[in-house]
Amino acid sequence: MIGNNRHLLDLDTTSAEDIRRILDTAEGMKEISTRKIKKVPTLRGKTVVNLFFEPSTRTRTSFEIAAKRLSADAVNFTASASSTAKGETLLDTAKNLDSMAPDVVVIRHRFSGAPEILARNLDCSVVNAGDGCHQHPTQGLLDLFTVRERKGRLDGLKVSIIGDIAHSRVARSDISGFTTMGAEVFVSGPSTMIPTGIERLGVRVADSFEHALEGADVIIMLRIQLERRSGSLIPTLREYARFFGLNRERLRLARPDALVMHPGPINRGVEISSDIADGPESVILDQVENGVAVRMAVLYLLTGGSDETTD
Ligand code: CP
Repeated sequence: MIGNNRHLLDLDTTSAEDIRRILDTAEGMKEISTRKIKKVPTLRGKTVVNLFFEPSTRTRTSFEIAAKRLSADAVNFTASASSTAKGETLLDTAKNLDSMAPDVVVIRHRFSGAPEILARNLDCSVVNAGDGCHQHPTQGLLDLFTVRERKGRLDGLKVSIIGDIAHSRVARSDISGFTTMGAEVFVSGPSTMIPTGIERLGVRVADSFEHALEGADVIIMLRIQLERRSGSLIPTLREYARFFGLNRERLRLARPDALVMHPGPINRGVEISSDIADGPESVILDQVENGVAVRMAVLYLLTGGSDETTD
């Protein structure tokens, strides 16, 4: 359980105490990945089903690795090779899989709310691995973990999230997570990509990209999501790169020790230049590494673990 929840659907409803507990547990989990034999028997006999209806490299692989490092059985479901291709509904598919007694279903789906539908109907725990433009809670948690690891704290930091806020489930989870943990969150991007009323989520809309960067401790660059028609909200990718791309000159506005983050996959030369993505300020690959530890912690806590990791 995470607090009183047997599911992890979003970070809106996850308390600071529960976030802290997940991050603390993930610290212990990270050590396991440094061992010569990167495996503990903690979740032996548990089954985790990865139910991905959208493409994924980082999230799917890291959930599978996380489950295996804890000795759970990990089963990967590929939508295109399943009976959904014959017209079976999401709920029927999920209920059939639930009949095989998994402990956790991890779902990614293009429809916002799909994980919640499963949570209401299945006996097992459900983890949202990204639903439409809604939430991607484990990405938010690994972003929090990465910043806390590097900065030693989250409260009082200036965190600027730049780009296609409207279509970004990562932005929503990061906004929930960072504001809950006491950071000051700014958003910036083309006006077509900033939802009206976003301030209600506790963020400030920066007057300009430069204002968002000034004195920032953390800069989170978002991907232009061409598969969600982001391209129709901007004149051209070239102009987007010119006005909202992070380059060396703009990065000088941030604090000298600022962290540059990106959830991936990167559109190099569009939202971020290659010298920044691969430069010393970038913690993009640390985010990926920490994704395994955070997902180990989430699977462990949801399947009945306490916050003490095992030897
Ligand atoms: N950050 C993220 O969700 O990446 P994937 O789409 O590769 O899982």
